[in-house]
Amino acid sequence: MTSQSYLTELFSLEGRVALVTGGSSGIGRAIAKALAHAGAKVVVIARKEAELIATVDELVADGCRAAWVSADLSTRDGVRAAAEEAAAVFGEPDILVNSAGVNLRPPMGDLTDEVWDATMAVNLEAPFLLGQRFGPGMAERGFGRIVHITSQQAHRAFVQSGAYGVSKGGLESLARSQAEAWSPYGVTCNTLVPGFVMTPLNRRLSSDPATVAELAARTLVGRNGLAEDFAGAAVFLASRASAYVTGQSIFVDGGLSVH
Ligand SMILES: NC(=O)c1ccc[n+]([C@@H]2O[C@H](COP(=O)([O-])OP(=O)(O)OC[C@H]3O[C@@H](n4cnc5c(N)ncnc54)[C@H](OP(=O)(O)O)[C@@H]3O)[C@@H](O)[C@H]2O)c1
Repeated sequence: MTSQSYLTELFSLEGRVALVTGGSSGIGRAIAKALAHAGAKVVVIARKEAELIATVDELVADGCRAAWVSADLSTRDGVRAAAEEAAAVFGEPDILVNSAGVNLRPPMGDLTDEVWDATMAVNLEAPFLLGQRFGPGMAERGFGRIVHITSQQAHRAFVQSGAYGVSKGGLESLARSQAEAWSPYGVTCNTLVPGFVMTPLNRRLSSDPATVAELAARTLVGRNGLAEDFAGAAVFLASRASAYVTGQSIFVDGGLSVH
C-alpha cells in the first residue's frame, strides 16, 4: 500500500456531501475549503450572497464541487427552507458543519430578550434543527459526521460572554446528546473549540494591536488562531479516521485553554 492510498483510506471525503453553515466567512469558509479539497461536494449556507458567491467561485476555480444557499438561520422557517434547498443540490448530506454564529456582547445588565433570542436562534437552535433534519437520515444510511463550532466561552467567561457563552455551552451539550442518539449508527457528533481567531466576527478586538498581543501571549503557541488552523481538525472529524471519536470537544486554540 502506498502512503497516498493509506491517507486516502483514512481521510478522503470523495463521494461525500457536506453542508457548512457560515461557510462564506472565517472559520466556516476555511472548513468548507478543506472539506472540498479533501473530495467532498460542499454546500455553503449564509445570508450575504456576495461572500457566498466569492467562496464558491474560489472552490470551483480550484477544481472542487461547491454550491451556495442564501438563507437566514435566525428563524425556524429560514433554517427549514435552507435545509431543503441545500439537500436538493448534491443530495442528502453525510457531513454537517455548524459554523454560523453571532456574538453580540452587551454587558449582562443590558442583555435584552431580543439579544438572547437572536443569539440562541443562530448559535443553538439552528444546529439543533439541522441535526433533527439530517441526523436520522445519516443514521439510517450508517454514516454521518456532525461538527459544531463552539468557543472557549462554553468553558469560561470571557469578554461579556453573556448569552453567547450560554449558547455555546448548550451547543456542546447538544453534541453529546446527538452523539448518544446516533453514534451506534455510525454518526459521530463533536465540537471544535476555537480560542481567539482573527476573523470578521471579532473585528473590534482583532483590530486592537494591544489586545491581539495580550491574547497571543495567553496561548502556548504564541499567536492567535487563523481560520486555516481548523482545516486539519475538520477533515479528521469529517472522515472515516474519526469513527471512534464522538461526543468530544476538541480544542483548536494554540493551548489557550490549558495555559
Ligand atoms: N473568531 C473567533 O475568535 C471565534 C472564537 C470562538 C468561536 N467562534 C465561532 O466560530 C464560528 C465562526 O465564526 P467566525 O469567527 O468564522 O465568524 P465570521 O467570519 O463572522 O463568520 C460567521 C458566519 O456565520 C454566518 N451567519 C451569521 N449569522 C447568520 C444567520 N442569521 N444566518 C445565516 N448565516 C449567518 C455569516 O454569514 P452572513 O453574515 O452572510 O449571514 C458568516 O458566514 C461561530 O460559530 C463563532 O461563534 C469564533
